[in-house]
Amino acid sequence: MNKLHCDLGKLILKNPVTVASGTFGSGKEFKDFYDLSQLGGIMVKGTTLLPRRGNQPQRLVETAGGVINSIGLANGGVDDFLNNILPEAKDYGTAIIVNISGDTTDDYGRMAEKLSVPGVAALEVNISCPNVKHGGIAFGTVPDMAREVATMVKNNTDLPVIMKLSPNVTNIAEMGAAVESGGADIISMINTLIGMAIDIKNRKPIIKHIMGGYSGPPIKPVALRMVYQVYKTVKIPIIGMGGIMNTEDAIEFIMAGASAVSVGTANFVDPYTPLNIIQGLNKYVEENGLSSYKEIIGAVHR
Ligand SMILES: Cc1cc2nc3c(=O)[nH]c(=O)nc-3n(C[C@H](O)[C@H](O)[C@H](O)COP(=O)(O)O)c2cc1C
Repeated sequence: MNKLHCDLGKLILKNPVTVASGTFGSGKEFKDFYDLSQLGGIMVKGTTLLPRRGNQPQRLVETAGGVINSIGLANGGVDDFLNNILPEAKDYGTAIIVNISGDTTDDYGRMAEKLSVPGVAALEVNISCPNVKHGGIAFGTVPDMAREVATMVKNNTDLPVIMKLSPNVTNIAEMGAAVESGGADIISMINTLIGMAIDIKNRKPIIKHIMGGYSGPPIKPVALRMVYQVYKTVKIPIIGMGGIMNTEDAIEFIMAGASAVSVGTANFVDPYTPLNIIQGLNKYVEENGLSSYKEIIGAVHR
């Protein structure tokens, strides 16, 4: 019996270890390292309705403990994904989860409709991007806007809908409740924290776009706290991420309430991290005499 069998309601994964959007391309970039079918799933890099060149460089900077990125969702657009990326990715033998971003609520609906095709296992909805019809406020920072996006996507697809929460809010539990009431099947969290780095020689921000998304090991305590708070608030399953580097980190997320995890920035350090975690979880389950890793979901207690 597969003790790592992962059941996220409408989405079934062979194990709870996925790779995070924007850190693993579409899988193609990593397929020479190992057989991708070992992964629970791949969250492919952010896709938009139309092609995007992304932001001007410099787009990535390493800090004392993590990275700041401002890629600006560079991608070939949803049609390019459907015509040129999905035909290969659907044969990797793992769940292909497409990460979508929009400028408007309607954009999300149109993308959901277009992507509802065989080979796509689920949609992961990035709401950390600005709503151009509402003065550029990020969808993921206003509960009503986040709920609206969830409902729009749900109304345009039969695929499982994963709403990806932004940590750049005061009350994360409220955001979790909002997307759940909008119809989300699953929550993934967290996206990056807004950060900044300065080159003191020329007194300029290192990232051309001034600010970017901060990720990697230092954000783990924040991510864990947020997963814990949302787990206490919602009934739908959570995919936890934010600074996961090894098996122990993954177990912390599961104990905080995540039913699955996603490995992001760690892929840049060691592309084998997700496989090491799968192996580590199997070992943990055996050593602790568990019948399934599910026994430790939300198991943290005082
Ligand atoms: C270079 C880079 C690009 C990213 N692109 C996306 C993206 O397109 N869509 C998205 O929802 N999240 C994106 N993320 C956020 C990650 O998926 C993840 O939520 C975040 O980095 C936290 O996990 P980590 O600390 O393990 O990296 C990106 C992160 C990085 C580092």
